[in-house]
Amino acid sequence: MTGTQPQDLKLEDVSRSFGPVVALERTTLTIAAGELISLLGPSGCGKTTTLRIIAGFETPDTGRVLVGGRDITELSPNHRRLGMVFQDYSLFPHMTIGQNVSFGLRMAKLPRAEITERTRRILDLVRLPGFDDRFPHQLSGGQQQRVALARSLVTNPSILLLDEPLGALDKNLRESMQFELRRIQQSLAITTVMVTHDQEEALTLSDRIAVMDRGRILQVGTPTEVYDRPRTRFVSEFLGTANLFVGRMTEGANAAPVAVARREGSESDIQIAVPERDRRNNGDTVMIAVRPEKMQLSNNRNGADNAFEAEVVGHVFRGTHRAYQVSLPDGRGEVIVYQQAGSSGDEPVLAVGRRAWVSWSANDSIVVDPEA
Ligand SMILES: Nc1ncnc2c1ncn2[C@@H]1O[C@H](COP(=O)(O)OP(=O)(O)OP(=O)(O)O)[C@@H](O)[C@H]1O
Ligand SMILES: [Mg+2]
Repeated sequence: MTGTQPQDLKLEDVSRSFGPVVALERTTLTIAAGELISLLGPSGCGKTTTLRIIAGFETPDTGRVLVGGRDITELSPNHRRLGMVFQDYSLFPHMTIGQNVSFGLRMAKLPRAEITERTRRILDLVRLPGFDDRFPHQLSGGQQQRVALARSLVTNPSILLLDEPLGALDKNLRESMQFELRRIQQSLAITTVMVTHDQEEALTLSDRIAVMDRGRILQVGTPTEVYDRPRTRFVSEFLGTANLFVGRMTEGANAAPVAVARREGSESDIQIAVPERDRRNNGDTVMIAVRPEKMQLSNNRNGADNAFEAEVVGHVFRGTHRAYQVSLPDGRGEVIVYQQAGSSGDEPVLAVGRRAWVSWSANDSIVVDPEA
């Protein structure tokens, strides 16, 4: 496919309220040319509103929308050169696949030969060659979703907007479509904004993720940045599981930054070494998040930066790992630790009641903002 030159998309100080409801607080965000960014957040946080402002279905109360530096805030949706796919992908049921896909080209009254050629090429791209004469009800959910994608891409849009595009598919299909979508988006290098409330989907597909809550973008970063270095409690908990500790900042040996902190429900003070970049002033209250897969369970502390002695309270097998619940030294509260499942499946399982050390590296202690 010969696409147009990819263009960047910029939201500048954009906001939108509905009566008393602030659907989107003043937001500034730049999406680079050819980049796929996900808007990730819980129901009602303002994802669709943001997308609708970009599409032109919603007028922002403040701010501007720019594509390739050009202000399109006042432009009507059909003049914005956007491709769009929604959750229910609403194909026209009485039209063939060929007619569905070529709809935008026929509306634009392109020459017949060009319509045929572009329809053929885009159906090849979504791996549905020769499906032209079928009707939507003769296709699987995943195939229909690919038709919807083809229909949105056939007009060579400069921006692609996806609102929960895989939401209607079951888990397996969804996973293979994630790879498909990524392949197609990258082969066209089309600037894309995707809305999702599925963290795995966002991590799999995105160049960058914008994590939203209550009308605000809390953090924007690559999947590894938002997962490994969440800045707030909300981001740490929305992207996976986080063991949270609350305590006070102090200094350990060689003036290294250390917090003395507790897990909710426990009165055991745990010394938690944090990385230098997460240092706070002595005496400051801090919240620390530790991912369960960064913690190890073993018979001794192995010289780890952080360790405490615990007792196994329970465990469940999760396919790729076993999730252990362990208590803190005073026998109260609990921490979740993931241990990789062995390739043979016969790794020793720590029985309930066993004592073990929980340890992790200072670099995996993340100081997060508790308020957001
Ligand atoms: N047209 C409207 N009139 C009144 N309130 C609206 C309107 N559109 C959205 N809202 C409100 O704005 C907030 C954000 O809605 P939005 O649809 O952007 O959320 P979302 O993040 O897409 O949620 P979901 O994951 O459930 O689709 C919600 O509180 C919603 O009720
Ligand atoms: Mg929505």
